[in-house]
Formats: sequence, structure tokens, C-alpha cells
Amino acid sequence: MLNSDQIVYLNGEFVALADARISVLDRGFIYGDGVYEVIPIYARTPFRMPQHLKRLRYSLDGIRLANPYTEEEWDALICELAAKQPFDDQALYLQITRGVAKRDHAFPQGVAPTVFMMSNPLPLPSREQVDKGVAVVTADDNRWQRCDLKTTSLLGNVLMRQLAVDGGAVETVMFRDGFLTEASSSNVLIVKGGKVIAPPKDNLILPGITYDATLEVARDAGVPLDVRKVTRAEAFAADEMWLSSSTKEVLAITRIDGAPFGAGTPGPVFRRVWQAFQASKPKVVAETF
Ligand code: PDD
Repeated sequence: MLNSDQIVYLNGEFVALADARISVLDRGFIYGDGVYEVIPIYARTPFRMPQHLKRLRYSLDGIRLANPYTEEEWDALICELAAKQPFDDQALYLQITRGVAKRDHAFPQGVAPTVFMMSNPLPLPSREQVDKGVAVVTADDNRWQRCDLKTTSLLGNVLMRQLAVDGGAVETVMFRDGFLTEASSSNVLIVKGGKVIAPPKDNLILPGITYDATLEVARDAGVPLDVRKVTRAEAFAADEMWLSSSTKEVLAITRIDGAPFGAGTPGPVFRRVWQAFQASKPKVVAETF
């Protein structure tokens, strides 16, 4: 259900969702010509904001769109929007498009970008999903070759995600040329012989902020790591397989393509890293009076 009173940000103003309007000629609508970020906010504290803003800059550079705000301005606007929401844990979505112009594939000149932000309750996995793990399906990765850019042109990912829904699963794990890439809206990591193995952050996957956070907490917990390409056979023969994303945190996969995977329950390395991940999150500061 849409909450039309929800306060969102559009082009310099905080307005009710019902009053946030853009032109049908916006290049985001016509071409998917824009980039976005999803920043998790725990207890009203953004998680890894500098990393998200750095990736935003990378995506903007990648599509040759000037960053409309400085890092300090983004920080202030994001915190102001978050403060206007009546819930503490949030998933803040922001997107920047190349603006409104007569339809022509070539970049328009002298056009202001469209900047939109909204913040919704953070849809974290349920306790049952954490305890029992989740189901995925697999597919060949047929997306473009710049999956490192967080662009709003998400049709490839949308079609992949629907395959998961159709198969009663939460995600579609993809392979390109026989190698593991990522899932439709998450990164994928495996565990073999106690070691976490993660596909490299090349042009074929999104450089996930949660992927980095997961590898960092795993390393700090003394878990050996290896960042390298993973074959399909290796992925299927892994002891554990995990999803990571801003809204899933780290989640164990326990069914693949309708069959139990690994031990059929979240593995020991997952449980250790999940705990460490929880401990690394910002917490509500206890009132001291
Ligand atoms: N999705 N890979 C893809 C294709 C993604 O869309 C995402 C995030 C990730 C994980 O990135 P991060 O850890 O920074 O969230 C990997 C977001 C949550 C979304 O589109 O809603």
C-alpha cells in the first residue's frame, strides 16, 4: 500500500508522495537513463554512508552525469529525509536521472538532473529466513556488461527476479560463461572447506556494500577469504552459499532449483559471520537518564 502522505524529496523540496510529480519526458522514464542507491539506516544511523556515496559517484561517472551535490550535501539531505520518517530502521532509496528533454538518445545539453529520494521501512529478512535459509533458482546471466554501475535500467534484473518468484524462491543466482556472477538484487558468496570465496568486483557484478561489509566482518572473525572467480560446478559443490544485500544483510541459501543445498540448513560459517554482522550494525544508543 502506498502511503501518499509519506514525505519524499524531489528536486530540492520535501513533499508528500502524492505531490511528487515528474514529467513523462524524464529520461529516467523514457530510457532508464539514471543511477540509484539503496542505503540501509539502522536506528536512524545510515550504514556505511561514505561507501554508498562513493559508489554513487562511481555510477554517475560511469554514465557521464555530473554529481548534483557534494558529499556533505548528500549527507545532510539523506539525514533530513530520514528524520522525517516515523520509523527508525529504513531503506533509503535515491535516484538521479539525466532530466527532462525532448526524446533523443544523445545526451541533452544544459538540462538539470532529476533527483528523487524516498525512505521506507527496512524490509529485513524474517527470523525464519535467517534460521532456515532461503530458496533460490539459477539462470544464465544475460544482462549487459556494465553490471558494476547501479543504473535504474533494471529490466534484466527485474526479469531475473520474476523467475525466482515464479519458482517460489527469493532470488535468482546467475552464471555467465560458466562462472558465478551475482543474483538479481544481491551478491553471492560461497564457503568451501571453511573459507569464504567471493567473485571479484569486476564489471559483471555490482560492487556490493554489504559484500564488503560481510568480507570485513568475516576477516575480523578470523575466517579465511579468497576473492576469485567461481565456476558453476564449484558453486553447486560448495558447503554453503550466501546472499548479501543492503536489505537482506547476509542470508544463507538452503535450496537451489527446488532441491536442498549443502546441509539443507544454514552452515556454521554463516552463523558465525551473521552474528558478527549483527554486532557491527549501528545500535540504538541507550538513554542514560
Ligand atoms: N540491490 N547486486 C545487485 C544486482 C543489486 O541490485 C544489489 C543491491 C546488490 C547488493 O548491493 P548492496 O550490498 O550495496 O545493497 C548486488 C538493492 C538493495 C536494490 O536494488 O534494492
